[in-house]
Amino acid sequence: MKIAPSMLASDYTRMGECVRAVQDADWLHLDIMDGHFVPNISFGPDVVHALRPLTDRPFDVHLMLSHPKRYVQKFADAGADILTFHVECEDDIEETLAEIERCGMKPSLSLKPGTPVEALFPYLDRLYMVLVMTVEPGFGGQKFMPEQLEKVRALRARRPELLIEVDGGVNRETAAACRAAGVDVAVAGTSVFRATDITEEIRILRGE
Ligand code: DX5
Ligand code: ZN
Repeated sequence: MKIAPSMLASDYTRMGECVRAVQDADWLHLDIMDGHFVPNISFGPDVVHALRPLTDRPFDVHLMLSHPKRYVQKFADAGADILTFHVECEDDIEETLAEIERCGMKPSLSLKPGTPVEALFPYLDRLYMVLVMTVEPGFGGQKFMPEQLEKVRALRARRPELLIEVDGGVNRETAAACRAAGVDVAVAGTSVFRATDITEEIRILRGE
């Protein structure tokens, strides 16, 4: 299982050092919140752009925005590789996917815990990845919702080749459940950035 440390849990006074500290991870996860789609505000494309030269890891950008479509080009310019937005957003899903493709990024869709997995089915053929939320989006440090792994199993059964990521509450214990469910990539914020040995923690989460 690949690990994508979430910069939401990093020390914002030394973000650059935090990027270098997770150099051994597979991807870097960047959470973008608008204070409307979720009750929290994080950071925007300028911060993503500033961090881009510090690592060669893929940038996995998670848009928690009511209107993601109007920001797609900005995140492409900032250096995003994979761009995830929510199926519950207020923009047209097909048009937003087309905009992500037009900008040369890999399109991905996410869903909140309360949204049935069937909501993603019409779009699976166009997606590089699906991001299954295992907490309510908006904040780091929440408790993992194990029943959300049913969605991973349903997606895996339907599309064996689809890349599946989970996000929220991933630690040593819950990572093992994710691996057993067939998750390809796990986002981990608190567990990675609070670890005494970050490199070792990433290895354990991977299941190595
Ligand atoms: C929540 C974010 C997550 C969050 C995960 O809205 O999408 O990426 O940073 O943090 P932890 O790993 O602490 O649950
Ligand atoms: Zn996220």
